[in-house]
Amino acid sequence: MLALFFLSCTGEKDEGKIRIGFSQAMSNDNWRRSMNNSMRLQASLNPKIDLIIKDANYVVATQIEQIESLIADSLDVLIVSPIQSKPVTSVVQKALYAGIPVLVVDRKTESQQYTAYLGADNIEVGRNAAKEIIASNIKDSIRIIEIKGLVGSSPAEERSMGFNQIIDQFKKAQITATIEGNWEKESIQNKFRQLLNDDIKVDYVFAHNDRMAVGAWEVARELGIENEISFIGVDGLAGTNGGIQAVKDGVLKATVLYPTGGDEAIKLALKIFNKEAIPKNNILSTTIINELNADIMNNQFEKINEQQDQMEEQLAAIKKQEELYYSQNNLLKITMALLAIILSLAVYSVYSIFAIRKKNKQLVLTNDKVTVQRNQIEKIAKEVKISNEAKLNFFTGLSHEFKTPITLILSSVESMSDFVKEKGSKMRNELELIHNNSNRLLRLINQLLDFRKIEDRKFNLKASKTNLYSFSKIIFKDFEREAKKSNIDFKLTSNNEALDVFIDRNLMDKVYFNLLSNAFKFTPDNGKIGIHIEDDDKKNMVVIRFRDSGIGIPPNEIDGVFQAFFKGSNNRKNSSGIGLHLSKEFVEMHKGTIQVNSLHGTEFIISLYKGQAHFDETEIISEQDLVDSNIIDFSSDHLIDDNYLIQDPGKNQEKYSVLIIEDNKDLSKFLKNKLQLEYDIHLSDGTDALEKAFETVPDIILCDINLPDKDGFEICEILKRDLRTSHIPTIILTALGNKESYIKGLQSGADLYLTKPFSYSILVQSIKSLLYNREKLRYYYTSNIHKIEELNSFGNIEQKFIHQLNSLINENLGNSDYSVENLAENLTISRVQLYRKVKAMMGISISDYIGNIRLEKAKVMLETGSLTVAEIAYTNGFSSPNYFSTAFKNKYGTSPIAFRKSI
Ligand code: FRU
Repeated sequence: MLALFFLSCTGEKDEGKIRIGFSQAMSNDNWRRSMNNSMRLQASLNPKIDLIIKDANYVVATQIEQIESLIADSLDVLIVSPIQSKPVTSVVQKALYAGIPVLVVDRKTESQQYTAYLGADNIEVGRNAAKEIIASNIKDSIRIIEIKGLVGSSPAEERSMGFNQIIDQFKKAQITATIEGNWEKESIQNKFRQLLNDDIKVDYVFAHNDRMAVGAWEVARELGIENEISFIGVDGLAGTNGGIQAVKDGVLKATVLYPTGGDEAIKLALKIFNKEAIPKNNILSTTIINELNADIMNNQFEKINEQQDQMEEQLAAIKKQEELYYSQNNLLKITMALLAIILSLAVYSVYSIFAIRKKNKQLVLTNDKVTVQRNQIEKIAKEVKISNEAKLNFFTGLSHEFKTPITLILSSVESMSDFVKEKGSKMRNELELIHNNSNRLLRLINQLLDFRKIEDRKFNLKASKTNLYSFSKIIFKDFEREAKKSNIDFKLTSNNEALDVFIDRNLMDKVYFNLLSNAFKFTPDNGKIGIHIEDDDKKNMVVIRFRDSGIGIPPNEIDGVFQAFFKGSNNRKNSSGIGLHLSKEFVEMHKGTIQVNSLHGTEFIISLYKGQAHFDETEIISEQDLVDSNIIDFSSDHLIDDNYLIQDPGKNQEKYSVLIIEDNKDLSKFLKNKLQLEYDIHLSDGTDALEKAFETVPDIILCDINLPDKDGFEICEILKRDLRTSHIPTIILTALGNKESYIKGLQSGADLYLTKPFSYSILVQSIKSLLYNREKLRYYYTSNIHKIEELNSFGNIEQKFIHQLNSLINENLGNSDYSVENLAENLTISRVQLYRKVKAMMGISISDYIGNIRLEKAKVMLETGSLTVAEIAYTNGFSSPNYFSTAFKNKYGTSPIAFRKSI
């Protein structure tokens, strides 16, 4: 836009221009210079005129060339002043043919083929000169020398012609000699000197222009005869070196005015351009200037010149103004343009603001849409997550659920095995088969659960110092029977049997089991399987190699063996494909590596760091975790102790009572069957767990977690908070083997947490231990009745209970009517519950407990006080002194009176 604008600024000057070209013959003399000046002056009066002056400098060829270039320049009008007539004639014609009108000035061409001619009548000029000579001479004879202009130029020809026409009419006048010049004085001076030296008599010299006339005068002066000869020239220029001044100075007798016609030429050219009708020949007037009118003429010309100068000055000023105008105009236009740009920018900005607002609205709408979509996606994602979670939970739950029946099967098989001791019998073999397959199923379920745990990053490494050889030996033994069956050469070797390493036994057991199961699965009968432990002292590492002579793994599949769900193409057996994946994860949790080679069989190489520096503190434990040890120990035969299985407490002995809260009927039935020989069993399927617990106040509670109504944690928590049941040892029995559940179980107040599958023997042992501990406490309470409140062996509730109990008993010590009912009422529990609570905690009845306190107090009073036995009996709530004496004697083996005397 700006570029276009600037073009318009500069382009305006060229618009509608009249291009006038002028081919000037030469410009070295004043007449020509005056001609050029008056042309320029006239042209500058019209701003549309663009005047181009080309100076040929007397060279005809140059003039022709310049005219050609002017023609090519496509002028509007061409002005030509030819050096000579003939050579320029054809190029002038060419211009006409090219459609450029031609104005010939001063000198003519040979033909008449030009648009117009402008100049003075040169024949007339010659005539005027001749007339002046005749008129100014009174002599009888006048001898004249004619000095001619350039041959072939029309003024020279015509001036000579006119001059001779007149001279020929007067007999007294005679042209004695003719000199041919070229309009410049240098061309005639030698020739003129020669004539004078030849003593040619001369009265008058007529030169075709003033320059040659003055040149001749200079020669005459040289010879000292300038006053004897009169000189007449042509041109009559004003100014210092002009002809008029020469006349005034007496150098020339006269001069014939030959006007340049520069201004007229421009005027005519304009008319030609405007297609106005003009005469073909435009003749400028001429006149004689001699001593009579030289001054006037000079003055007039000077005035004209002055005016011309003024005009020039004004024109210059106008030009300056014009330039100023143009520059200011341009500035204005630029300003306008900038204003226009600013305006359009402002308009554009307003438009943009609206457009942006519109876009913004659209964006807000789109954004809202996107937000809605995103929310939908988030909702869907959440739903998918929940659904996935639900599926996974279902899957995990199901796996957990599988564990209970398997536990039952295993436990049943265990106890059946106890009855069928006869090795090799069919029954024994069948049981072994069930046992082995149940174990296998259990391991598979555990693997599935481990996979979930690995995915959830829920495994916490629990490394403990372990003798690697012994650890390996235990697992080795599990497989020995299998090796024997298939006649496999199965070996365990080590270069350092004393080597201890820090491993998570539970996890490493799974790794061993996986690698060995694989080895046995793929090694044919009579093959070889070996475990070799290599203590590499230099590297501070231990390398365990599991080598078999089995079918091996195809080389192109070897990289994928540790990927989840991998199954080799040569593997025709059932396989979940997660065992090796888990093994790798477990080994890497130990910061170790596992590699596989397969060439003539397969070799798995586990590398572990020795020491414990590579583990976090939290990853090291000093003893095996209870949760996990149960799982490991479950499969260990050596833990099954027959002593735990059946123990008849004897017919009359009071049995401890056990409340089993379990919704799995088979399991509760199983447990009931097993435990009822030794304990009084109460069963709850979970729906009436609390009621049963409050009603029976058992000695021990076994509680499952996944129950229909409240879960096991809640039940345990409620029981542990309730005064009636808070003292009862509780074992949580569950399939949830993760750490969180374990912690939750302990937080709920459970005394023990056993994960399924649990070993029955461990369960029995656990029940016994808890009851034994209670018994120990009981003994402690009963023998330290008064110190109980200071002891911290109870839970808070028990502490509070005993405090309350003791306070109430002490407060009512003197009141023989204060009954157990009153006490239970004050403690806001039933009489039976109070009885059971005290019996459970102290091993004695509540009335015995109260009696004990009374007797203890009475004993102290007997020792220290001055009251009588009867007074002591009543003070301590005994209904009669006799009853007090009997009770005292029963407890301490002596009567109160005898006791007092013995002090
Ligand atoms: C100028 C001039 C004049 C003369 C004219 C004739 O160049 O020599 O003195 O009158 O040319 O063309």
